[in-house]
Amino acid sequence: MTTGTFITLEGGEGAGKTTLLLHITSWLIQRQIKFITTREPGGTRLAEQVRNILLHQQELPVTPQAELLLMFAARAQNLAETIRPALAAGRVVLCDRFTDASFAYQGGGRKLGSAMVAQLEAVVHPDLQPDLTLLLDLPAATGMARKHADQPDRIESEQAAFFQRVRDAYLQRAAEAPGRIKIINAEQTEKKVASSAIEHIEKLFKSK
Ligand SMILES: Nc1ncnc2c1ncn2[C@@H]1O[C@H](COP(=O)(O)OP(=O)(O)OP(=O)(O)O)[C@@H](O)[C@H]1O
Ligand SMILES: [Mg+2]
Repeated sequence: MTTGTFITLEGGEGAGKTTLLLHITSWLIQRQIKFITTREPGGTRLAEQVRNILLHQQELPVTPQAELLLMFAARAQNLAETIRPALAAGRVVLCDRFTDASFAYQGGGRKLGSAMVAQLEAVVHPDLQPDLTLLLDLPAATGMARKHADQPDRIESEQAAFFQRVRDAYLQRAAEAPGRIKIINAEQTEKKVASSAIEHIEKLFKSK
């Protein structure tokens, strides 16, 4: 049983997840609500090393299956070290990407399919789902244009068709879990995106 609140932020490259995270944390600080933030892949020393391998060591070959398994290895560690203890302590946990990203990127983008991702989800966190997932949706090209990365990472180096599959898989997830996953039009201004996200969070707090 967890007593905290688990909120995840999802969406494609440059959709505005990290920007939104900052708006949400200042809103929580104003209300003196205790929270932690984390990100995936990452959030612990081991998981940050996995992140480095997956995103930045592009000379190292990684098969789609290995990528998926490493994502879940990092996630298992982040859950054990960071997410579960914070939830048990009653905190709000804000996570920049979580398992929906595996469905979108490895299931959709890498074409591994959702069944394989669901099997790993059932092993790693059969008992835990986010209370709320904010999905920042926008055309992939818009997100990529926002980021002026001169050194694109392994995933950012993918082609347009890959990002289209990522977006489609995210929207499919949202269609399957409309109670949990709230789609936010990420082409709106930063302010509008933030106020829409906070509306969803307020609703969640009222329902708890
Ligand atoms: N609603 C918005 N409208 C226009 N630009 C935005 C909006 N939200 C964020 N940005 C800008 O877009 C860029 C990418 O934003 P951000 O880093 O928050 O995206 P992200 O989803 O975290 O990206 P990544 O996938 O790399 O983690 C930043 O320069 C940010 O200032
Ligand atoms: Mg980010």
